[in-house]
Amino acid sequence: HTIYVITPTYARLVQKAELTRLSQTFLHVPQLHWIVVEDSEQPTALVRDLLASSGLAYTQLHILTPKDRKLQEGDPSWLKPRGAEQRNEGLRWLRETASASRGQHGAASDDAVVYFADDDNTYSLRLFEEMRDTKRVSVWPVGLVGGMRFESPVVEGGKVVRFHTGWRPNRPFPIDMAGFAVSMRLVLANPDARFDGNAQMGYLESSFLQGLVTMEQLEPKAEMCTKILVWHTRTEKPKMKREEALQKQGLGSDPHVEV
Ligand code: UGA
Ligand code: MN
Repeated sequence: HTIYVITPTYARLVQKAELTRLSQTFLHVPQLHWIVVEDSEQPTALVRDLLASSGLAYTQLHILTPKDRKLQEGDPSWLKPRGAEQRNEGLRWLRETASASRGQHGAASDDAVVYFADDDNTYSLRLFEEMRDTKRVSVWPVGLVGGMRFESPVVEGGKVVRFHTGWRPNRPFPIDMAGFAVSMRLVLANPDARFDGNAQMGYLESSFLQGLVTMEQLEPKAEMCTKILVWHTRTEKPKMKREEALQKQGLGSDPHVEV
């Protein structure tokens, strides 16, 4: 089964480093198709060149987050959801591509799996084999998230019965984006399922999963949700103090060198 990985990404100093790390993880995963969705008005050369030389099967998309939905400089990072428009654009492409290819050679990619992989997290290769046979929605713990060592579905008798989380456990699905995968069949059977770019803090994942699946139907992976195979790591913003000082003297780093 092919795994379609949808990654929202945006231009910033660490973007190329993040995407390089991610692409080199994905190179180790068989049958993976990477859908990279830039938060930009146009596709960028940096992402285009990186993908072209990555060795991966990929699709490059782009959609700019509308200004009123985007975090502004100085806003706290939890104020507005990030990557919602981009994930929806990835879903739109998948549905469009699936319906186009169905006409040609039968139910093409119904067996595929869709995973939303942010560009800054850390992914174990084992995670992809866990999700590969997802029937509807599979789930597993996520490390270093939500102000916790990990958040996780709690499994009893092989079923998810509640969620281990430090915050609003009664949200419909208190699961980080990195903690679930969805079958392509379910995505195609629910053409209106999408992320709500206006969702309040912590409800972005629920806005998509609500209506797709119930808690009882979730498929626990990673040894009944006892193993951490993905970490919600966040990359520090590099300081440019010296760079700015040197630039003032006309001695800044060569702007033609892509970082
Ligand atoms: C947490 C979750 O892990 C995210 O999946 C969720 O989208 C986010 O909260 C949220 O509440 O919206 P966090 O680490 O705070 O994640 O978010 P980021 O990693 O900064 O952003 C998530 C994704 O969106 C990344 O792939 C990032 O590259 C992308 N992004 C971020 C954009 O495309 N545009 C932006 O302006 C910012
Ligand atoms: Mn992140």
